[in-house]
Amino acid sequence: MTLWSGRLGGGLADEMAAFTTSLSFDRQLWRVDLEGSRAHVTGLGAAGLLSGAEVLELHAALAEVARELDGDTFEFLVTDEDIHTAVERRVTELVGSTGAKLHTGRSRNDQIATDLRLWTRRATAMLAGAVVDLATTLHEAADRAADAYLPGYTHLQRAQPVLLSHHLRAHAWSLLRDADRLFDAAGRADVSPLGAGALAGSSLPLDPEVAARELGFAATFHNSLDAVSDRDFVAELLFCAALCGVHLSRMGEELVLWTSAEFGFCELDDRFTTGSSMLPQKKNPDVLELVRGRSGRPIAALMGILTVLKGLPLSYDRDLQEDRGHLFGAVASVQDSVEVLSGLLGAIQFNRKRMADAASDPVLLATDLAEWLVRGGVPFRLAHGMVARIVREAESRHLGLDQVVRQSWRRLGFSSAAEAERLFRPERSLAQREQPGSPGPKPTAAALSAAAERVAAHRSWARALARRLPA
Ligand code: ARG
Repeated sequence: MTLWSGRLGGGLADEMAAFTTSLSFDRQLWRVDLEGSRAHVTGLGAAGLLSGAEVLELHAALAEVARELDGDTFEFLVTDEDIHTAVERRVTELVGSTGAKLHTGRSRNDQIATDLRLWTRRATAMLAGAVVDLATTLHEAADRAADAYLPGYTHLQRAQPVLLSHHLRAHAWSLLRDADRLFDAAGRADVSPLGAGALAGSSLPLDPEVAARELGFAATFHNSLDAVSDRDFVAELLFCAALCGVHLSRMGEELVLWTSAEFGFCELDDRFTTGSSMLPQKKNPDVLELVRGRSGRPIAALMGILTVLKGLPLSYDRDLQEDRGHLFGAVASVQDSVEVLSGLLGAIQFNRKRMADAASDPVLLATDLAEWLVRGGVPFRLAHGMVARIVREAESRHLGLDQVVRQSWRRLGFSSAAEAERLFRPERSLAQREQPGSPGPKPTAAALSAAAERVAAHRSWARALARRLPA
C-alpha cells in the first residue's frame, strides 16, 4: 500500500513502482530523515497537535526504527517508495494510530528538502575538513622542502627558478579557497525548510522555528514555495566539489609528470603506486591518474543537477528526486580523492638534485639580467631586447648565457667578470624575490602565517558547526 492509495484506484503497475522509487539511493539518508522526524515530532508536541504521551511514543518508535536501520534488520517493502515512506510505514506498524500522526502538517516535499540540507551540511563540513587537512599536508611537505628549488614553468617551459616550498604552498592556497567556498555555501544550505509542507505550509498551528532549532539550523525558510523547490545548495556544493576536483586533478597531472623519468623530481612511496601485470620494472602513479580521472564525476554531476533544475516550474516537481543521484557519489568521490592525495603527499620524496639541475640553465636567469640592467637605468623594453639578443648569441655559439655575459661584462656595465657570474646563481636570484607573495624566503614565510590563520579559522568554523549538528 502506498501513502496515497486512498486517492487512486487499483494497484501500481510493476514497472511504475520500479521506475518511480528512489529508495536505492535515498536509503542512505535514513539518519537525517530520522533526525528530521524527531524534530517534527517535537514541533507537533509544542503545537499541541500531539499529547506528551504521543510524543514519547513516537520518539521511542523512531529510536526503534533507527536501531533496525543501523543493525541492517529493517525490512524494506517493494511498496516503500522512498526512505520517508519506509520510515512512516514502520512507525505506524510499531505504534498504530499514533504513527499515523507522524506526517501531520508535513509533506515529503519539505521533508526531503530538510533531509538533503542536513546531509549537505554534514558532507560540506567533512569535505572542508579533509580539504584543510590536505592543505596542511602540503604546508608540511613545504616545510620539509626547506630551500630546495626547481624551475618554475609557464606553458610547461622552464621559466624562472622557484622554491619548491613556494610551489607546494601555491597548491595549498587553491585548496584554502575551496574550503572558503564550501563554508560560504554551507551558510546558504543552513536554512530549515521544514514547515513549508507540500508547497504552501499548513493551516495547523506548527511553528517552523521549533524544528529548525531542534535541527540546529541557523534560519528558517521565508517562502514555502521556494523552500520545497530550492536545490541551489546541491548545485553549490557540487560546484565547490567540482572546482576542488579540478584542483586535485591539476596536482595529480603535475605529479604524474614529476614522477616520470623525464622529470624525475619526486618518487612516490611504494604504498601509493601500482605495478604492471606485464612489465616487471614498472612503478606506476595510478592513484594520481585516478584522482585526475575522477574529477570528471563532480563536473558531470554539476551539469546533471543544473540540467534537472533548469526547466522546473515552481514548486516541487518529481524531477527533483534526481538530485541525490548526482550529489552523493560525486561528493564521496572528491572526498576520497582529497584523502588519498593527503596520504600520498605525506610520504612523497622529492629529488632536490634533479630539481636543482633542471633549474641550473643560466638562461632561466635572463630576466634577472634584464632587471639588473634596469637598475642601471636601462628602460625595461630595451633591456629585454638586449638580453634577448645575448640569449640568441649564446645559443648560436653553443655557450651558456652566463659565459657570454662574463665575456662582455664591461660592455654590460658589471664591475668585474665575477660580479657578472654571481648574477647567475639560482640561490641569489631566489633570495632577491622579496616582494610580498614572491618566492623568496621572507615572503614565503610571511605567506605561511597567513595560511596558518586561514586554516585555524576554517577549523574553528567546523567545530562551531559540529556543535550545532543534532547528536
Ligand atoms: N521521493 C521523493 C523525492 O525524493 C519524495 C517527495 C515526493 N513528493 C511527491 N509529491 N511525490 O523527491
